[in-house]
Amino acid sequence: MARKIDVVFSDFQPGSALRAALGMTPTSVIELVTKSKLRGRGGAGFPTGLKWDAARSHRSDDKFIICNADEGEPGTFKDKNILEKQTAKVIEGMAIGAYAIGASKGFIYLRGEYKYLVKDLMKKIEELKSQNLIGKDICREKGFCFDVDIKLGSGSYVCGEETALIESLESKRGEPRNKPPYPAEAGYLGQPTVVNNVETLSFIPHILLNGAEWFQQFGTEKSTGSKLFSVSGDCRKPGIYEFEFGITIRELLKEIDADPDTKAVQIGGASGFCACSDDFDKPICFEGIPTGGSIIVFNKSRSMFMVLKNFVEFFQEESCGQCVPCREGCSRMLEGIEKFEQGRGSSKTINDLLELSTTMSLASKCGFGQSVPNSFRTIASKFKDEILSAGGGEVWRS
Ligand SMILES: Cc1cc2nc3c(=O)[nH]c(=O)nc-3n(C[C@H](O)[C@H](O)[C@H](O)COP(=O)(O)O)c2cc1C
Repeated sequence: MARKIDVVFSDFQPGSALRAALGMTPTSVIELVTKSKLRGRGGAGFPTGLKWDAARSHRSDDKFIICNADEGEPGTFKDKNILEKQTAKVIEGMAIGAYAIGASKGFIYLRGEYKYLVKDLMKKIEELKSQNLIGKDICREKGFCFDVDIKLGSGSYVCGEETALIESLESKRGEPRNKPPYPAEAGYLGQPTVVNNVETLSFIPHILLNGAEWFQQFGTEKSTGSKLFSVSGDCRKPGIYEFEFGITIRELLKEIDADPDTKAVQIGGASGFCACSDDFDKPICFEGIPTGGSIIVFNKSRSMFMVLKNFVEFFQEESCGQCVPCREGCSRMLEGIEKFEQGRGSSKTINDLLELSTTMSLASKCGFGQSVPNSFRTIASKFKDEILSAGGGEVWRS
């Protein structure tokens, strides 16, 4: 039984973790983070220690650390809350990362819609400066300087993708770059850069204070620690929850008091996976059903066809259009889905769209186009009848 725990929003004494880090060498800080097996909470689950190590190993006088607070995935609202309620913790996570990789400048890339947070964030930054927790010679450590600026996001979903974010930060159009080189080698202004999610950074001070073993006691072998979930949809207790990785969908549905007639749960937002009752005993973790944190519950009154159409409309609108598989793929997928509404869709249409999905997954330039097919594949396989009958078309025709 996975436990409900409270790490991210727990009390924290600003400066305590940073002082602990400064008592260690940068390399041993990275070793500790690596040992904790912390994986990025922004979606991809890349090992944080490995990313920091890569940025540390590239020589440059200018390195950067970026807190990704773009939070554009439909159904996600946890990062806003963390930043609002645990500002000092997140910035301390950034400062520790800066010390570890040798950076002196950080940015919080803040979703444009969260503009109202800027005033309070700036105030907090000034407060931390006055406490010598950021700025020059931090904690009286000669030569360790680290400043943080806030950059407002440009309003596009793809700007959350780390290389598009960096382009946007450089005041260019927010479009993904080719990888490699990865940001840890050549990121902001071509310099080694670490991009970490807000939630990932919020775990860092706790790992410094409590150790890698403490962190590893939560979660599973391959997904250590806990995870924040933004829960919405057909349940009586929507909101933000922190559970150990490995919680099953059924356990989660019980905690959030989901409708007894829940028929589907979208895990990981529009770009994630749709689970039906057959999946409810599967664990939520990187080796099970992965998620950046969005959980949307659908009861029997919902049309899964409309859910799918809504997601694909979103993708078609948000595709940056730079690469053909994603730009054309999103449009063709929406056209295909609309066929069902018009009573012109069949099993062959689904198969054609599955073929298109494979092309998009394999040939799209970035994680956007690669993950668009996730919701199509899972909804179409689990709720095929609802798709086929969307326009009043008969199921038997399939
Ligand atoms: C289309 C797209 C949107 C993304 N949006 C976000 C986002 O809003 N926030 C985020 O932290 N990561 C987002 N990511 C993932 C980032 O590219 C990157 O992996 C992450 O910020 C790294 O931090 P982490 O290792 O701490 O997870 C997005 C990725 C893609 C492909």
